[in-house]
Amino acid sequence: MAPPAKIAVGSLVWVEDPDVSWIDGEVLEVNGEEIKISCTNEKTVVANASSVYPKDAEAPSCGVDDMTKLAYLHEPGVLQNLCSRYEMNEIYTYTGGILIAVNPFRRLPHLYDNHMMEKYKGIALGELSPHPFAVADSSYRQMINEGISQSILVSGESGAGKTESTKMLMRYLAFMGGRAATEGRSVEQKVLESNPVLEAFGNAKTVRNNNSSRFGKFVELQFDSRGRISGAAIRTYLLERSRVCQVSDPERNYHCFYLLCAAPPEVVDRYKLGNPRTFHYLNQSNCYDLDGVDDSKEYMVTRSAMDVVGISNDEQEAIFRVVAAVLHLGNIEFVKGKETDSSEPKDDKSWFHLRTAAELFMCDATALEDSLCKRVIVTRDETITKSLDPDSAALSRDALAKIVYSLLFDWIVNKINSSIGQDADSKFLIGVLDIYGFESFKINRCLTGMPFVFIILESRGLVLAVNCMVTMCV
Ligand SMILES: Nc1ncnc2c1ncn2[C@@H]1O[C@H](COP(=O)(O)OP(=O)(O)O)[C@@H](O)[C@H]1O
Ligand SMILES: [Mg+2]
Repeated sequence: MAPPAKIAVGSLVWVEDPDVSWIDGEVLEVNGEEIKISCTNEKTVVANASSVYPKDAEAPSCGVDDMTKLAYLHEPGVLQNLCSRYEMNEIYTYTGGILIAVNPFRRLPHLYDNHMMEKYKGIALGELSPHPFAVADSSYRQMINEGISQSILVSGESGAGKTESTKMLMRYLAFMGGRAATEGRSVEQKVLESNPVLEAFGNAKTVRNNNSSRFGKFVELQFDSRGRISGAAIRTYLLERSRVCQVSDPERNYHCFYLLCAAPPEVVDRYKLGNPRTFHYLNQSNCYDLDGVDDSKEYMVTRSAMDVVGISNDEQEAIFRVVAAVLHLGNIEFVKGKETDSSEPKDDKSWFHLRTAAELFMCDATALEDSLCKRVIVTRDETITKSLDPDSAALSRDALAKIVYSLLFDWIVNKINSSIGQDADSKFLIGVLDIYGFESFKINRCLTGMPFVFIILESRGLVLAVNCMVTMCV
């Protein structure tokens, strides 16, 4: 990177602009810290010297494919480069070993077909256009050649394209390390097939993304000594539990709630469900339907995806029973009880939902009521039962809903893992971490208007990915 050039009259600079983030212009006057600039949008602005960045007059108009080649690696320079490439349909750009992906918001199938995978096979990073296949290929080759496990970290704000990028990385790794399944499905097929199940229970509509994963996912592909995929494990982190009982407009709760409400009538009757608008956990937001998504079809799709990953029919019933019970739980309201600072279900409607939740959980209704309206404190000498006021009872109701839902999610992940199969003797592995983080909407939106993802190849093994995750949680 070149040292910052001195700004003088006639210099070309970038200055912040409320409409387009950064606008370029020419310096007209320099008065100490105050700089007067004639911008290319024909406005003249006065800015402080510290908020003005030099513009590289020789930067190619079509951008550079590796931003380490830029004369100035500052924010307007980087964004300008990504923008020029994006306008030419080049959504991928390197910064050294890091791949930056800008979300194209439209299908680009020619970028990801088999021909492309063949093209990137064995080619060094940087020799061909930037691409997730190049990152995946590089990690695969380093693993084979150096015998060291690898990890790839995919991060960015919601809707930036992390999950899509992760799928591309996985597809390439399956292409390199896959083998024709001798019996039944191959490991990599099973990993890809588990996506719809995880998405039904762990994805939701957010402001930015109709199908946003609300959990971090680390997929570990295990390889044998010949570089063939021999097992895999999916580890999930930080499921957004608060969404189960709190949804802000125009977002949605987890998909599974809506698709269960749209299931065939006999299923809806069995779980005493109905219109999602009648459930407190769903009606805090006005959004129920997603463009182009038919929840009743999604129910069927999810059921068959569950068949595919080896979740039995009885287990599927049990899963949906818990999902329905959580919805009923949310509809239990509390009022003051007879004793001071105590509470009880508000009315017949609340009692109906409490009894239904207990039936579905297969537990005793009175025990469930007690667990919501009372707190048991165990001391060294005795056990004290304390009544809770209505607000506290509503909080314990929500706490129960959250913990049950997140345990259900963990159970599903474990089930998928045992169906995929682990290789205890694997020689090495490649981990791909898809995790949300660093959501800083105000700044990100006004700076770019184009969400992007960082794909980072780490050759120092898995520890680093885990460390990164911990940093993100903090
Ligand atoms: N490379 C891509 N090609 C086509 N569409 C994409 C691509 N990346 C993202 N998208 C679109 O953006 C949406 C959000 O991407 P997703 O990967 O789910 O975001 P994230 O996981 O970062 O929240 C996807 O559903 C898809 O429509
Ligand atoms: Mg995602």
